Amino acid sequence: MKHTVVTIQNAKENKEKVTMLTAYDYSMAKLMDEAGIEMILVGDSLGMVMLGYEDTLSVTMEDMIHHTRAVSRGAKQAFVVADMPFMSYQASVYDAVCNAGRLVKEGRAEAVKLEGGREFAGHIRAITEASIPVVAHLGLTPQSLHAFGGFKVQGKSEEAARKLLEDAKIIEEAGAVAVVLECVPAKLAELVSKKLRIPTIGIGAGAGCDGQVLVYQDMLAMFGGFKPKFVKCFADVGACMKEAFQAYMDEVKAGTFPAEEHTFKIDDDIIGKLY
Ligand code: KIV
Repeated sequence: MKHTVVTIQNAKENKEKVTMLTAYDYSMAKLMDEAGIEMILVGDSLGMVMLGYEDTLSVTMEDMIHHTRAVSRGAKQAFVVADMPFMSYQASVYDAVCNAGRLVKEGRAEAVKLEGGREFAGHIRAITEASIPVVAHLGLTPQSLHAFGGFKVQGKSEEAARKLLEDAKIIEEAGAVAVVLECVPAKLAELVSKKLRIPTIGIGAGAGCDGQVLVYQDMLAMFGGFKPKFVKCFADVGACMKEAFQAYMDEVKAGTFPAEEHTFKIDDDIIGKLY
């Protein structure tokens, strides 16, 4: 079954949880698609996990289009959402619509995601009016890293929690089809999920959300170093890959790979004539 804005909305109405994972290339998207993951996010987290930047701020429209196009080719059933990178929408509504259009037209995304609340309601409305579904992103919005003064849980004070709840209602009114809630206290995320008609997709926002998203390198322990509290390792693929790389290295050095079954044959008479 092909997942769309309609099936995702139906899932919320039927109280079925929605699953989303990030992917940045064809083969990973294909694996997730075959596993039945409903939504694939080509996150601008690709700047960190694929390109090795310290944050997401340097990611370009060209980076996003390149990776989204690869993911879209691998995702036959999953609904593909592409992140709008930093400064591809903040400066004007015109930029927002043009760049959202490029992600759909050139990247073959089926929806775009942008970070922020009421200040981007006009942008969300205009992109939606251009027939491009928008997923919003509230709470910890990594493109605002410097404005927040670091990666911190958001919405903890009464004022901040009230603002987040209001922002969620405003972006829903503006036409967002879903909202990612990142690093928000679980009880606040649950309340937002109850108050909204559209699905909430949580990351570090507890089980009360309508769906969950994780960065795949985090859930497969492929991205060493810092592990956020909300990440669960579902398989230690990082360790497994390192073991395989070492086994390959050992066999090449020992001359046991490639073996007979990995080689192509030629008639000995032909070889003899070449000596
Ligand atoms: O860029 C990304 O991967 C994201 C998720 C963390 C939601 O925005």
